[in-house]
Amino acid sequence: MIIDVIAGARPNFMKVAALFAVADQFPNIELRLIHTGQHYDANMSEVFFSDLGLPKPIRHLDVGSGSHATQTADVMTRYEQWVMETRPDLTLVVGDVNSTVACAIVAAKLHIPVAHVEAGLRSFDRSMPEEINRVLTDSISDFLFVTEPSGMINLAHEGRPAQAIHMVGHVMIDTLLRMREKAADLVVYQRYGKRPSEYAFLTMHRPANVDDPVQLATIIEQIEWLAQRTAIIFPVHPRTRSRLSDSGLIARLEALDDMYLIDPVGYLEAVCLVDSARMVVTDSGGLQEESSALGVPCLTLRDSTERPITITEGTNTLIADDWDLFRQRVTVILGQGSDHTPSMIPYWDGRAGERILRILSEQLG
Ligand code: UD1
Repeated sequence: MIIDVIAGARPNFMKVAALFAVADQFPNIELRLIHTGQHYDANMSEVFFSDLGLPKPIRHLDVGSGSHATQTADVMTRYEQWVMETRPDLTLVVGDVNSTVACAIVAAKLHIPVAHVEAGLRSFDRSMPEEINRVLTDSISDFLFVTEPSGMINLAHEGRPAQAIHMVGHVMIDTLLRMREKAADLVVYQRYGKRPSEYAFLTMHRPANVDDPVQLATIIEQIEWLAQRTAIIFPVHPRTRSRLSDSGLIARLEALDDMYLIDPVGYLEAVCLVDSARMVVTDSGGLQEESSALGVPCLTLRDSTERPITITEGTNTLIADDWDLFRQRVTVILGQGSDHTPSMIPYWDGRAGERILRILSEQLG
């Protein structure tokens, strides 16, 4: 049985790696990695392949950047041609990026079954492109692999058939647990003269935060406040760097002592920096989960989360522009001891990839 595994943007690579890591256990399955090229800079893509030991993609669609419609359409046109030529038995997509929905639509229309890994997550905020991608992908997927209980409830509410929905846990956490020790050995924070817990790890790239100059300026003001209390290591996403430069706000960050504005980091470096951080400040979806799994406090610069288990069982706090809350949480975290205990979230045990391939092997094989 041939399965096309789609990866295109940075958060996809660590997820698909968990499937390749256990593929040998399922001799009736052949996984073919398709890279859409949504992310193309070496530090947004290639470095993940080397860090994660991913195989070379069998096909690179080379789509690059563009408006949402252009990017989605380019993935669709190019993947359609590949599917017509090669007829996989299943197309497996992960997460919620434009490549996810594009390949799911192509496969469904060519009557190729679709599996969606990380199904059922909902922020209920349709202004996020990822929410549109999640809803559409789930509505046409034949296998819905869910990471947390909210996903089961959301899919049932949307009328998806119970036999298609499977609670399997989280492939991203499989990879995190597999790589954690190797990542820790890198002691990346030493490059900035820091020891564990002596810094906050900051990332942001969501259009709602970085494309709106007023919102971006507000966040920078809060970052300036944070920088007076702790060192900050901030790998800057290409979208964010361009908005910070255009608005001139980058100069304010560059003027801060103990602020490390660095290029986007590879997977192992990111895990090392998160695992040893005093706190994570982010608008990323994946980091809310990774910090929860590692037990590192996370302050999320968003109004909503599609990953509510990180709040109820993990370490996450939604800031939702409540800057008093932000300052209170920072003060509490800096006042606490630096030890962190990993959260025990059901099914986040490193075996999601195995569960997914077992279900596919039994039901399709
Ligand atoms: C995409 C995903 C988002 C994910 C994020 C992680 C969608 C809708 N969004 O957002 O869910 O959290 O990736 O990074 O799919 N760029 C580069 N080099 C690259 C990639 C992008 O310079 O390798 C630039 C682009 O030219 C563009 C900007 O970064 O100006 C945004 O890239 P894009 O892939 O459109 O969306 P992301 O914001 O990265």
